[in-house]
Amino acid sequence: MTEAKTGEAAKKPLFTTQRTDNWQKGPLAIATVFTLFIIYATWRTFENQYFEMGNLLSPFYSPKIEWHLWTKVWHLSPAILILWIPAGFRATCYYYRKAYYRSYFMTPPACGVSGYKGFQYQGETKFPFVFQNLHRYMFYLATLVLAVLWWDALQTLFAAGHFFNFGFFQVSVGTLVYFVNVVLLSNYSFGCHAFRHLIGGRLDCFSCGEPAKTSLSFWEKVTKLNEHHQLWAWCSLFSVAFADFYTRCVASNAWTDQILFQVQQVVQ
Ligand code: FES
Repeated sequence: MTEAKTGEAAKKPLFTTQRTDNWQKGPLAIATVFTLFIIYATWRTFENQYFEMGNLLSPFYSPKIEWHLWTKVWHLSPAILILWIPAGFRATCYYYRKAYYRSYFMTPPACGVSGYKGFQYQGETKFPFVFQNLHRYMFYLATLVLAVLWWDALQTLFAAGHFFNFGFFQVSVGTLVYFVNVVLLSNYSFGCHAFRHLIGGRLDCFSCGEPAKTSLSFWEKVTKLNEHHQLWAWCSLFSVAFADFYTRCVASNAWTDQILFQVQQVVQ
């Protein structure tokens, strides 16, 4: 009898569900991609080289910290001083929470599937999950970093050392990579639930006066981005990793940043 019980317990599945589809695929794919991204980002953070070449500066190392006082007291990679902002922004994002709670904590791993009993999600009122409530502040900080990344993308439109000199205007493959990245990052950041609340969601009446009507028009635009927040979250994660990878390849001379168009010769 005891043996039979032990056998039954051994056969008991980790999760119970009546779903017959391959529901494991989603959480498994998310866990795999997250893990690969975290490994890559950690390696690049500590590599502390090949992050800059000409007018290209990796988004992992931007803004560039050339502050002499800092370099005297800080001997580690400058990326450590920067990446906690986008990392904190993504880690506290409402979409990413759902994704990694399902993939890593498995409570539950998917809709209609019982949660893993080893870990019980108890909301975001206790340590360490209470920190998730900092998301709106991470949004403010991440917006500052995003502004710097737009500045970096603009820099790629001019030959190195000739910023805003239209005699040296150019478009390279790196320009395209950087602009695609900042556009995707902007779509992700400005589709944020916290921003949507800030821009208009907090109002009770959208027709009460001109400021409220203006808020409504912004809120509608943000809502359009917000509807595809998951898509922008993934696309921007890939684009930021690729922008860094591209910069690394150029900075290590593995690739050349091909110029697609330039006006320098015409002016001279
Ligand atoms: S909810 Fe995803 S970035 Fe704010």
